[in-house]
Amino acid sequence: MSDRSSATGSRAAGPTGAGATPPAAQPQRFAFSATVIGEVDAGVMLVLIDNPPVNAASASVRTGLLAAIGRAAADPDVVAVVLSGTGKTFVGGADIREFNLPPEPPLLPEVVAAIEDCAKPIVAALNGVALGGGLEIALACHARLAAPGAKLGLPEVKLGLVPGAGGTQRLPRLVGVAAAIDLIGSGRIVDAGTAERLGIVDRIVASDLVGAATATVRALVGTVPRRTSDLPVAADDPAEIDAAAAKVLARSRGQQAPAEAVRLVRAAADVPFADAVADERATFLALRNSDEAAALRHVFFAERAAAKVYGLDDVAALPVATIGIVGLGLMGSGIAVAALDGGFAVVGVETSAAAAEAGRARIAGLLDKSVASGRSSAADRDARLARLTISDGLAALAGIDLVIEAVFDDLDVKTRLFQSLQGVVRPNAVLATNTSYLDPDRIAAAVDRPERVVGLHFFSPANVMRLAEIVRCAKTAPTVLATAISVARAMGKLPIVCGVTEGFIGNRVFSAYRRAGEFLIEDGASPYEVDAAIEAFGLAMGPFAVSDLAGLEIAWALRKRQAATRDASERYVDIADRLCEAGRFGQRSGKGWYAYVDGKRQPDPEVLMIVAAARAAKGVASRPVAAEEIVERLIAAMADEGRMLVAAGIAARSGDIDLVMINGYGFPAHKGGPMFIAGRAQEAAPPH
Ligand code: 3HC
Repeated sequence: MSDRSSATGSRAAGPTGAGATPPAAQPQRFAFSATVIGEVDAGVMLVLIDNPPVNAASASVRTGLLAAIGRAAADPDVVAVVLSGTGKTFVGGADIREFNLPPEPPLLPEVVAAIEDCAKPIVAALNGVALGGGLEIALACHARLAAPGAKLGLPEVKLGLVPGAGGTQRLPRLVGVAAAIDLIGSGRIVDAGTAERLGIVDRIVASDLVGAATATVRALVGTVPRRTSDLPVAADDPAEIDAAAAKVLARSRGQQAPAEAVRLVRAAADVPFADAVADERATFLALRNSDEAAALRHVFFAERAAAKVYGLDDVAALPVATIGIVGLGLMGSGIAVAALDGGFAVVGVETSAAAAEAGRARIAGLLDKSVASGRSSAADRDARLARLTISDGLAALAGIDLVIEAVFDDLDVKTRLFQSLQGVVRPNAVLATNTSYLDPDRIAAAVDRPERVVGLHFFSPANVMRLAEIVRCAKTAPTVLATAISVARAMGKLPIVCGVTEGFIGNRVFSAYRRAGEFLIEDGASPYEVDAAIEAFGLAMGPFAVSDLAGLEIAWALRKRQAATRDASERYVDIADRLCEAGRFGQRSGKGWYAYVDGKRQPDPEVLMIVAAARAAKGVASRPVAAEEIVERLIAAMADEGRMLVAAGIAARSGDIDLVMINGYGFPAHKGGPMFIAGRAQEAAPPH
């Protein structure tokens, strides 16, 4: 962390004040622990938390804070305390790495209680991010000032937890029960302005935050400190509370933590504070050991690991301000919206003026939808549209920094496009292909400088789905790869780097999963039992409902092309072929694995007859297949394919497979992903 406090590195005495009493004008300095330092100047002790990278409230921080408060309370020369953090974080929360170990004293609730109960005023100067336990420390202070860039939240539910140090009880005393349910139940992080509006912080301070906090705390000297836990809980409209709770519960199907968070916040209105925080702590400790929390911790660390890409240490991304998008169909328009959301200027290109205009209308429609749903304002939409230009010719891309092609997924179409583009764009402009199934190395081979070609594979709808597979082609230059990653990140995506293979990570794993679904049908399950089992497990849609949505024709055409070269020893289920032969191409054709009556999906006896006939033709004796077996085999199929991709170096690590399935295919994050589940099963298995 570069922006260390001036107090760091200065002469430090022990917490008991060992060392000679300094001359009156000299600030007195303390090292309360390896990560908490103090400086007393004219009666105000500035306590700084200095635990890079994110000032997590580890055991050393907790010990240091307790010592600092103890010292401040006992020292007659100290009249007040300002609490702040070094670097760009106040406190990034409890130390998540400690969650796999038994809790180590002093515990955070003890620290928080010492802060709140201190007879001398304590003001939090929120210099940056204050999350989880970090915000709980701040909520226990007697006032809170924040820098304009501070971000606040209680995101514990995203780790399968509830706040464990009073957050569920103190926050509703500041913002009301309904707003606290919304914030804690969703884990949403808010900016300083919102925090001030809600009443979480008292004031935003644009410059000299510590100076302002010092002045504020001095003014409180001699007054009775305002203890958040003593504040009454505002009597919110019960309908508003119910609506906030219902929204959280609807979005967290199958998870424990959000429902517990709602229960605890509701209790703030009528359970005495001491009882409610005891309940909160017990709930926190129970959840800390849950499968849900273990899974979400895995996802948290997997995301951080995915950001570390082999070969990119010290490689800078090229600056990108303008993005060209060729092809403004459903995918291209979605990518355009994501790029506009990311702050880029976008030039959209189509083959005719009419198609370009239709593309603009599609993009504007998506932006309008976002305004209608309240996700953005009309002013945001207008600002985005002002950054969009459209054209019916590639010449419009002359000055562009990066081009993403989203044209028809055909090798000839794409290679011809890239060849045309190299005559138009600057020599160092990045050329990205959004192909799903083609070999991007073959596209790259068609241009003079293949090192500037990279795969940038979005998932539909591209303005919504968080996953972006970044395909490192054989010749992609490190700067080009770094640029694609940085652009995807700016678009709000989670970039996962992968190597070249048909279908990349996601479609390869999804195909293995779908194949396993077909094996299950041939063995005796119905497609509806397969879908129902995996949906009950937590995926939004089963493999057959998804196939119907995507349409069955393209995969059928592919299978027919592959028929001549298919390995005869490989198990092949031909039921999907029989469906296509019967004209069942999926939802758009009105029937596929399901029948669609008035647009509603429903099981179809005709499909069961086709399935039974296919089994009979192969002489398969069908047997009942339990839901547990269905889920186990589907997940095992994903994990087996994932392991192969890691072994082949297509995916860098197994966590990347989980992130792809969670963010691109609707695998529930609170289950951790197929690799996580397979790993846990292996750990639990008795030794042979
Ligand atoms: N504990 C331990 N390590 C943490 C951590 C935490 N709370 N937060 C971040 N880290 C680590 C990351 O793993 C990463 O380590 P690495 O460099 O070895 O990979 C490093 O810090 C930097 O993290 P990011 O790459 O995420 O840095 P950013 O600057 O992008 O983001 C952040 C910083 C906003 C603080 C983000 O890391 C974050 O959201 N952290 C988690 C916050 C959170 O969930 N806190 C609640 C914890 S639960 C709790 O507090 C319980 C309490 O109620 C008792």
